Amino acid sequence: MSLESRKTAPVGVFDSGVGGLTVAREISRQLPDENIVYFGDTARVPYGSKSQKTIIRFSEQIIRFLKTKQVKAIVIACNTASALALDAVRDEFHIPIMGVVIPGARAAVEATRNNKVGVVGTDATVQSGMYTKIIHEMNPEITVIEKACPLFVPLVEEGFKEHVVTQEIIEYYLESMRNTDIDAMILGCTHYPLLRSKIRAYLGDRIQIVNPAYETAMDLKRLLQEQNMANDGTTEQHSRYEFYVSDAAEKFTRFANTVMPFDVPVTNVVNIEEY
Ligand code: DGL
Repeated sequence: MSLESRKTAPVGVFDSGVGGLTVAREISRQLPDENIVYFGDTARVPYGSKSQKTIIRFSEQIIRFLKTKQVKAIVIACNTASALALDAVRDEFHIPIMGVVIPGARAAVEATRNNKVGVVGTDATVQSGMYTKIIHEMNPEITVIEKACPLFVPLVEEGFKEHVVTQEIIEYYLESMRNTDIDAMILGCTHYPLLRSKIRAYLGDRIQIVNPAYETAMDLKRLLQEQNMANDGTTEQHSRYEFYVSDAAEKFTRFANTVMPFDVPVTNVVNIEEY
């Protein structure tokens, strides 16, 4: 690939479904000239209740698909896949791949003043203990309390943000977190930032909410600059977005239009099992 085509090549971003759009949205804010190819595995969501073996296989297939789009780097926007598959796929594919767990952990380590951090995520992410491991590599003094909140995902998928049941489930899951003295809490699942205002209102100002998406976009910016492959927007090939899913494209398009700061006209369906 020539230097110019390396710069204009898209960044691949993937998630188990719609949640990773929160990461794509942050990338589009911080790196507005980058082209993005997004893949949401809507046929196989949720990943949060699946085994590591399966999550690695799904991630491999998606990376093979994204490589057919000539991506220059890949962001695993899914916390579950970042926690369980990042190491495996990094060893396997010769392309820069980053996840959201390391950036999210770093943001929390920087945010906490009393060295007590909470993490909420899917069952698989919490069981992996990956957030605790990475936070301890950065600062072994920090106490980490992890809590799985699996019902947040379907509530977001169903557009139940304002529903009374969502408030009840937030209280059910987060009461124990609110009763600790943590002063920072990582939203360790792509869907949870979409409930951020509700979670914040329940936890109060004492606990700083950390969304890994912001730090992930910053890390991506750094990586592209270091490797001299940032899109500088000087050619016509910039700020283009393509969306792919493994199922239910119209539902995804409707959702994407509520998350992304621009119009998403179409989503394409891919038979991901072919990859
Ligand atoms: N994208 C997943 C994550 O960030 C949440 C949804 C799922 O369970 O697949 O962990």
